[in-house]
Amino acid sequence: MQDKTVQSNLCMFPCYGLYIATDRADKNTAINQVMWLWPESYLLGGLVKRTPRRRGFDMGTGSGVHALLASRHCHEVVGADVNPRAIEFSRFNAALNNATNAEFVLSDLFNSIESTCDLLTANPPYAPDSAARAGDNFWSGGIEGTELLRRIVEAIPSRVDVDGTVHINALFPNPPGTTIKDHFDRWLVGTIGQYEVLDHTWSVPRYDDLLSEKPFEGDKSAWRFGVVSLRRAPNGAGWWREVAGRGLFFSAEGSCSMVADFDQR
Ligand SMILES: C[S@@+](CC[C@H](N)C(=O)[O-])C[C@H]1O[C@@H](n2cnc3c(N)ncnc32)[C@H](O)[C@@H]1O
Repeated sequence: MQDKTVQSNLCMFPCYGLYIATDRADKNTAINQVMWLWPESYLLGGLVKRTPRRRGFDMGTGSGVHALLASRHCHEVVGADVNPRAIEFSRFNAALNNATNAEFVLSDLFNSIESTCDLLTANPPYAPDSAARAGDNFWSGGIEGTELLRRIVEAIPSRVDVDGTVHINALFPNPPGTTIKDHFDRWLVGTIGQYEVLDHTWSVPRYDDLLSEKPFEGDKSAWRFGVVSLRRAPNGAGWWREVAGRGLFFSAEGSCSMVADFDQR
């Protein structure tokens, strides 16, 4: 009976050995919701090779999930978000999971963070949306969808150490006839050839935006979704390798079945 139902205001997700609290997994525009874990969160969490690192940055940390996963193999991590509610949730999740080397800061991407990192994770808002500005909620990436993605990629040369690795999960809403590589090259001022890139994205020509008030309606033939992993090529001679196939990454028990391993030939 409806009047005897008790319902939590929060969700709790197990994620690779952590417990992560988020807002409820249904749209509620009365608050700036902290994103619940979708398969993309498990994809990004599973793809990161968990080798020892000095400093991890997580841009658009939300619940803090990627910063907290990184805190287990980084000396220290910083998670950034513009939503104060996300910072509260990520600090709660840090305490819940006994992570003492994770700091969470209210920051417009890198703006309130000093220094550099050798592990950068990001799952920025990425939906092309004409009803909300980029960053107003957890899904809008502005009219073209790439406003925050672009700023993160542009920051790589100055914010990621030469031996660092970057993993970005996003929708890549490429205009027809363009590729992710074209856009990354433009944002990196013509230097994409100096990076080794594992492209774990797949084609999504029928991508369905469930959250925006005014979802993009147009040609999605070049759109892709997934994780792009990159690091600088030691000798400056990079490559771009597509490794996602059809995007079937998950094992039967729900974990990501592959790791972004640049050194595996
Ligand atoms: C797609 S959610 C990802 C949440 C979490 N990282 C995950 O993967 O489950 C994007 C997050 O980016 C945050 N965000 C939006 N604009 C931002 C900005 N300019 N700087 C930092 N964070 C931002 C949102 O508040 C939201 O928490």
